[in-house]
Amino acid sequence: MIRIKDFCYWYPGQDQPALDGIDLEIPEGQFCGVVGPNGAGKSTLCYALSGFAPHFFHGTWEGELQVGKRDVPRSTLGELAGEIGLVFQNSFNQISGARFTVREEIAFGLENLGLKRKEIERRVEETLALIDLEALAERSPFALSGGQQQRVAIASILAMQPKLLVLDEPTSQLDPRGTQEVFKILDKLAGRGGTTVVLVEHKLEWLAAFADRVITFSQGRIVLDGSAKKILADEKLLKLGVGQTQFTQAAAAVQKKKFIPRSRPLPVTLKQAQKFFE
Ligand SMILES: Nc1ncnc2c1ncn2[C@@H]1O[C@H](COP(=O)(O)OP(=O)(O)O)[C@@H](O)[C@H]1O
Ligand SMILES: [Mg+2]
Repeated sequence: MIRIKDFCYWYPGQDQPALDGIDLEIPEGQFCGVVGPNGAGKSTLCYALSGFAPHFFHGTWEGELQVGKRDVPRSTLGELAGEIGLVFQNSFNQISGARFTVREEIAFGLENLGLKRKEIERRVEETLALIDLEALAERSPFALSGGQQQRVAIASILAMQPKLLVLDEPTSQLDPRGTQEVFKILDKLAGRGGTTVVLVEHKLEWLAAFADRVITFSQGRIVLDGSAKKILADEKLLKLGVGQTQFTQAAAAVQKKKFIPRSRPLPVTLKQAQKFFE
C-alpha cells in the first residue's frame, strides 16, 4: 500500500531535512501508530503521505513515496483528495469556514469530490451516526468545543472513504470515552474495511491495545519499528522522550525492587499487566 524509499524533505529555507532518509513499507489494512518526541518529524510524515509536503508547504524533496499506484509528490492535491485523507493536528485548521452547519461541513469535502447529491446525503448521514454527531448536525462548527470540533474534522475525512487515512494526534482534545470511540472506529476501518491507518498518537496505552505496529521517529528518522507490543515495551522509548504506558511503568517499578524476576517481559496492556503481577 505505502512504499517509501530514501525519502527526504526540507521545509523552505531549511538546511536540516525534517524527514531524513525514510524507508518504509506499510501493507494495506495495517493500523500503524507513529510516536516520537516533539520535532521528530511525525507531522511532516503525515504531510508527506498526503501530499501537503511539498504541495502546500512547498520546500524540496527527494526519494520515492508511493501510496497504492500513486506517486504522491508527483500528484496534485486534487488527485490525492479522494484517496488519502489527512486529519490535521489542529482540527480548527481543518474546518473549511465555507459552510454553516456540521452537516454541511461534512458534505463540503464530498461536493468537492464531485459525488452525486444522493450519495453525498447517504454518506453524511452514515458518518454523523458513526461519529455520534447527530445531535450537533445543525450547529455551527465554530460554536463547538475543541473535542467536538475534533470529531467533526475526523468525520469530514472519514466521509470521503479514503483508502489511506492519516491522523495527526486526533484524540488530543478528547476524553477517554471519546478517545476509545475513535480507536474503535479506526480498528473497524483497518481490520474489516481494509483501510490503511497511520496514526500519530501520544496515548501509548491505546496504541498498545489497538495498533498492529508502532514506528518511532527521532530527528527526522525512523529509529524503532515493529509490532506495537514489542516497540512499546522497548526501554529505548524512555531515552527518546516518548515515555512508556502506565502498565509498563508500574511493572518496571516493581521489577526494579526485585519482587519480580528480570526475565519477565514488561507489559504494555492491562491484560498483560494482570498476567505480569500474577
Ligand atoms: N512549516 C515549517 N517550516 C519550517 N520548519 C518546520 C515547519 N514545520 C515543522 N518544521 C520543523 O521540522 C521538524 C519536524 O517537525 P514536525 O514534523 O512538526 O515534528 P513532530 O510532529 O514530530 O513534532 C522540526 O525540526 C520542526 O521545527
Ligand atoms: Mg506534530
